[in-house]
Amino acid sequence: MTSGYRATLELVLRSLGRPNDSVWYEDPGYLLARGFLAETGVQLIPVPVNEEGIDVERGTQLDAQARFALVTPSHQSPLGHTLSLARRMALLDWAEQASNWIVEDDYASEFRYLGRPLRALKSRDRHDHVIYCGTFSKVMFSGLRLAYTVVPERAVERVGRVARSMNAGSPTLLQAALADFIEQRHFARHLKRMRTLYAARRVLIVRALEQAFGERLAVELPQGGIQFAAQFIEGPDGPVDDVAVAARAREAGVAVLPLSIWYANGRMRRTPRGLVMGFANVADAGEAGRFALTLCECLAG
Ligand SMILES: Cc1ncc(COP(=O)(O)O)c(C=O)c1O
Repeated sequence: MTSGYRATLELVLRSLGRPNDSVWYEDPGYLLARGFLAETGVQLIPVPVNEEGIDVERGTQLDAQARFALVTPSHQSPLGHTLSLARRMALLDWAEQASNWIVEDDYASEFRYLGRPLRALKSRDRHDHVIYCGTFSKVMFSGLRLAYTVVPERAVERVGRVARSMNAGSPTLLQAALADFIEQRHFARHLKRMRTLYAARRVLIVRALEQAFGERLAVELPQGGIQFAAQFIEGPDGPVDDVAVAARAREAGVAVLPLSIWYANGRMRRTPRGLVMGFANVADAGEAGRFALTLCECLAG
């Protein structure tokens, strides 16, 4: 158990990293982890992502010997795509050949609205290269600061030793309370209820955005998770300044993030512009409509 995904990353880097390591990082990819990794001094290798997930072939061209690949296979952060089977196999092959580690950030797979829940990449990990990372931040709430990792057998001793030497771990009282919550079946009930609720809320917000923005925003119904990215369509005035739009939105009380800052080269002309937003707290159609109209006004400036 750790106190969050970044704490898991710190544990993994301290246990299995070496000086001057390079790390494949999804581009675009999870902002907060990118900031943390930059602080640690590892060399970040941004690897492009498309609708099939991380481009393993491109990653291999950029740096075949990277020590870690950090990926979000079930719900790419922030674009929401699922890593295809072909890419899953290619990624596992890469780790096998280079004898390196894949860090699977499975932060939101409990929320899947279409079909059956997805199998983790870890479930195909025949040669023990995947470090599985789960968290209770999305499925419960992020203030809980509880996450967990399942490390390959051959790394258990080393990771366990470093975990004990690093700090005293996450609070045992919280862990015990959560364990009771799970054992007494409240967690399963909570998941079931939230899945239904969030599935409906995502439709409300997507429909409201489509109505408010028309052709100016490309938005797809998210298949999982509790957030999504919508992309601005470039007009005659050039790329939309999504940083300014998001700042105006925050001032108007709507918490969204600009999509471009999730990219390694956020200010390049060709970087997609858009908004990353959560939908878990959109209470009803009226609120979704107000939220979408406010964002539309923020686009106009
Ligand atoms: C991509 C991604 N990974 C992991 C997490 C969980 O991070 P933590 O466990 O530090 O709250 C989040 C939460 O926002 C996330 O968006």
